[in-house]
Amino acid sequence: MTDVLTYKPKQFDLSGLKGISDQTLEMHFKLYEGYVKETNRLTDKIAEFLKDGHVDQEEMPAYSELTRRLGFEYNGMVLHEYYFGNMKKGSTTTDPEKTSNFFKLAEESFGTYDIWKADFVGIGKMRGVGWAVCYQNPANGRLSNHWITLHEVGNVSGFNPVLVMDVWEHAFLLDYKPAERPKYIEAFFSNIDWQSCESRLRPDAAATSNAG
Ligand SMILES: [Fe+2]
Repeated sequence: MTDVLTYKPKQFDLSGLKGISDQTLEMHFKLYEGYVKETNRLTDKIAEFLKDGHVDQEEMPAYSELTRRLGFEYNGMVLHEYYFGNMKKGSTTTDPEKTSNFFKLAEESFGTYDIWKADFVGIGKMRGVGWAVCYQNPANGRLSNHWITLHEVGNVSGFNPVLVMDVWEHAFLLDYKPAERPKYIEAFFSNIDWQSCESRLRPDAAATSNAG
């Protein structure tokens, strides 16, 4: 694989978060690096099949399996980058400024910010292995919250992830019991980098009252 096609793990300076230990973060960064490595490895393997310009019938089962796994690994890599990227140490607030675009869009999309939050937190508490993601529809600016199973089932094509929360147990198991996911979600909110979320919003796509 040429250098330009090889992903390198990004670095995140997050030690000292509230309620999410450095030990958890170190373990989590290692897991993330695994996704980066596997994304590169699978991309290479798939390229091998394509070297002769076609996928032979007898190659199809192995090729299919690798390609399915690529979706898992790729989304695992990208979602972790959004997740680590929307936290910061030293946050002093759990909610966005009332004057922020995010706050306004949450109100326009859900009625009130509190309803947006109830939905996002509710999704985070859903039983299962996955993610809670708040997306913005670039066509009309509207926010919507989604449950993502594993890493790849439920992402909405073309929508921008604005706030991404990992609710796999590995995200909190060193700090909380499996049944204490709500405490982890509370801790997550006390570490959100709302400025980073704000920067992910499309400035030219404000929500409108007739947003479809
Ligand atoms: Fe994770």
